[in-house]
Amino acid sequence: MRMFFLILGKPPSFVERDSIKGENGLVYTIIQVKSIKMLPPKSNKFCKSNNSWKVESSVMAKTTFNPIRNILETMELKPNPEKQMISLSIGDPTVFGNLEPPKVVSEAIHESIASGKRNGYAPSTGYPEAREAVAKHINKNPNLSIKGEDVVLCSGCSCSLDLCISVLANPGDNILVPRPGFPLYATLAKGLGIDTFEYNLIPEKSWMVDLEHMESLINENTKAIVVNNPSNPCGSVFDEDHLREIISIAERNCIPIIADEIYEHFVFEGANKRYVPMASLTKTVPILSCGGLTKRYLIPGWRLGWITIHDANNLFKAGGVQHGLQSLSQRIIGSNTLVQGAISKILLETPESFYKDTLATIEANAKLAFERLKRIPGLKPVMPEGAMYMMVGIDMPSFPEFQNDLQVVEALVRDQSVFCLPGKCFNIANFFRIVLTVPKEMLIEACDRIEVFCHLRSSFVPLSTNLTNYNLSDDCLSSCSSATQSSEDESEDDEVIDQRIFTKYAPVSFIIRPRTNSINTKIP
Ligand SMILES: Cc1ncc(COP(=O)(O)O)c(C=O)c1O
Repeated sequence: MRMFFLILGKPPSFVERDSIKGENGLVYTIIQVKSIKMLPPKSNKFCKSNNSWKVESSVMAKTTFNPIRNILETMELKPNPEKQMISLSIGDPTVFGNLEPPKVVSEAIHESIASGKRNGYAPSTGYPEAREAVAKHINKNPNLSIKGEDVVLCSGCSCSLDLCISVLANPGDNILVPRPGFPLYATLAKGLGIDTFEYNLIPEKSWMVDLEHMESLINENTKAIVVNNPSNPCGSVFDEDHLREIISIAERNCIPIIADEIYEHFVFEGANKRYVPMASLTKTVPILSCGGLTKRYLIPGWRLGWITIHDANNLFKAGGVQHGLQSLSQRIIGSNTLVQGAISKILLETPESFYKDTLATIEANAKLAFERLKRIPGLKPVMPEGAMYMMVGIDMPSFPEFQNDLQVVEALVRDQSVFCLPGKCFNIANFFRIVLTVPKEMLIEACDRIEVFCHLRSSFVPLSTNLTNYNLSDDCLSSCSSATQSSEDESEDDEVIDQRIFTKYAPVSFIIRPRTNSINTKIP
């Protein structure tokens, strides 16, 4: 094989020189390689011997960690082998099989596949028609009017958040995030060398932002305020006035907002509130809103998220943010193309009844869990107004044997095989979070077990004789009430009778105390 290449200057000895005249009259010098002698391998200054390999992960990899993983790995989570595990920790609404996506979702994806047009690479920010569909969806709010070009499609809302944080902040900068809050904000930021400053949410005020605290955290390196509404883990929904207060802080300090609105429209009927997109309330504060199909359409695995850019005064444009998002989206070349092909139908044709039914199921669970847990001494649930979660406060003095929420959660797993995420996962002490997307019977069972746990483990032991309110099977009730009866007949003291009851999920221990006990005779 002959190789030709152009060389400037004097050629080395292993090449022959020739010249040809081109059609344009110019003379080209051609250098032809005669032979190439293979040189013996040089000893490399970076690798002194075969044993001196040192392959290290990057600083970014080392500084990226998911606090939930870290916390759970250090916890001792050994379920009671006699009880089937009930996990109230998983934020994936599909795992229990009780909530299904709308039919139109599977129709749309079948059509997308059958079209044969969605197998190639899409533009990194998404197909124009898919971006248009998201813009149309967002513009259902009369105060919003974005174009397809203001939409960036991403691989899930996590990726949307990643791009938003990456495009606004540099290493050494900081962003404000809620406490308690979704831990991914810190995971993403810290990996990039960006600090997170946590502003407090106030449980006694339905988790509204402590505005003074939020503003006090801002410094010259603050590049964005992350607002999550409706909230994970709190299930709170901010009303318009409160959102305006947050926007005022952003405006006073000239700081853009990253609005995590993945739970858009997830507002319970009983909350008497409505979902208000932050961007609909301001023309002065630039906002990047993150959303997606994940939660509302119950398809988290499909990984379709979006960023919508709200920039009435072209501040993002002037600073290169729009362009920066486009560049960053080229790192992973956008979201799944089959889902992009389906998105228009999903957003336009999902029946209203689907949204209503899903919300009604979750709201019913929220009410059930709240009513049950609020009557348990030592627990202080905060009634959610939307999303899929409820935070439950732990009155630590009621549990003197435990030092923190981690220990309470560990013991709840050990005793009752009920697993909730400790508040520490969301950067708040003395709370645990439960998910509300579980089947009703499972939630009832979980509440039963939590109640038993608290009775056994708290310093404050109430009576429990009204078992009809436990929603137990008839068998359970009859065996239990006979035990109650006998305990009433024979005991003047308040000795505990442990009656083992087998319900659908697992055996549950109930502590039945005679009515003569003086404290809190009725549960719930
Ligand atoms: C508040 C919040 N933001 C973002 C996400 C990430 O969503 P996705 O699964 O689409 O990446 C979640 C997921 O649980 C979430 O709760």
